[in-house]
Amino acid sequence: MLVFAVETSCDETSVCIINNSKTILSHIVYSQEEHRKFGGVIPEIASRAHLKILQKISIQALNEAKVSISDIDIFCSTCGPGLIGGLLVGSTFTKALAIGAKKPFVPINHLEGHILSPTFNNDIEFPFLCFLLTGGHTQIYLVKSINNYQLIGESLDDAIGEAFDKVSKLIGMGYPGGPEIEKLSEHGNENSISLPHPLKKNNDLNFSFSGIKTAISLIIKNKNIIDNEFKCNLSASFQKTVAEILEKKFLLSLKFLNNQNINIKQVALVGGVAANKYIYKKFKNISLKKNIRIIIPPNYMLSDNAAMIGWACLKKIAIKKIDDLYFKENPRLLI
Ligand code: KG4
Ligand code: ZN
Repeated sequence: MLVFAVETSCDETSVCIINNSKTILSHIVYSQEEHRKFGGVIPEIASRAHLKILQKISIQALNEAKVSISDIDIFCSTCGPGLIGGLLVGSTFTKALAIGAKKPFVPINHLEGHILSPTFNNDIEFPFLCFLLTGGHTQIYLVKSINNYQLIGESLDDAIGEAFDKVSKLIGMGYPGGPEIEKLSEHGNENSISLPHPLKKNNDLNFSFSGIKTAISLIIKNKNIIDNEFKCNLSASFQKTVAEILEKKFLLSLKFLNNQNINIKQVALVGGVAANKYIYKKFKNISLKKNIRIIIPPNYMLSDNAAMIGWACLKKIAIKKIDDLYFKENPRLLI
C-alpha cells in the first residue's frame, strides 16, 4: 500500500511517499527561507510559499519514488492544528489529488504525527510518556495506545520552541532560534545569568515560558554592549533554565503516574526542540536513574515533515480510525 503524505501546517512544505512495509520511497522537506529576515513565521508569506512549491515537490517526490499518481492508494495531509492558510493549501491540494485519482483521503492531526513519530524506529511499550516540544506546542501526553492520548500538562503561554526563537531574535541571531541558541551555549557559562523559573512553586504539570523571555528582554535593555561573550552566556543560561524546568516536569509526571499506579518504561521526546542535545542529556540522566528508556524519532522526523504524517496515516489505517474528504481544516484542532 502506497501513501502520499503532505505537511504544510507552518513553514515547512513537505511531501512523502511511504509504504506499509515502513519504506520511505521519497521524502522532500522544503524549509521556507522567506521568514528568516523577520525572525518568525509570517502566515501570509507561508501560505503563498506553500502554494508556489507544493506541486513542484510533489512531482519530484513521485519521480524519486519512481511511481505515478495512479499507483498511490491513500492520500493524507495535516488538517490541523497550524496556520489556517497553510493547512488549506496543503489539504485542498491533497484532497484534489485524491478525488482525481479516485482514492481515499485521510486527514491527519499534526500533533498526532509528532506523537507517533518515535513508534517508527522503536519497539513501543504502551503506555509511554511523551514530551511534545515544538514551536507551537509544549505538551505532556500519556500515550495509552494509537488514538488514545491523555494530555496531562501543557504551556499556559509561549511554546518552548517559540521561547528559543524569541530569545534568538532578542540577541540579534537568526530564525529558527533553537539551533542558534544551542550553538552559542557551547561557548557560554550557564551559571553567569540568573533567570526566573516561572511557576516554580506550582507542582502541576503545566509550563510558562513568557516570563523568562520578558526577563531576558529587560536584561538586554539595560546592557550597553551585546558582544559575543554576552550572547553565549545568555544563551547558555537560558538553555539551562529551560532544561531545569523540563527536568522538574519530567519528575513530576513520573510522580503523577506513580500515584495512579501507572508504570511507564519509555519517555518520548518529539518535535523540533527534541533535537537539542543539552535537553536530551538532562532527560537521559533522570531516565537512567529511573530505569526508563528515552525514545526519539529519526532526525528527519523531529522538525515538521511529511514522513511522520504518512506514518501516522498508516498507523490509523491499521486500526481503521480514518476520516474522509469532508474533514474541515482546523487551526486549533485538538487531539
Ligand atoms: O516541530 P517543529 O519543526 O515545528 C512545530 O511544529 O512548531 O519545531 C520547530 C521549533 C522551532 O521553534 C525551533 O527553534 C525549535 O523547534 N528547534 C530547537 C532546536 N532545533 C529546532 N530548539 C532548541 N534546540 C534545537 N536544537
Ligand atoms: Zn510540528
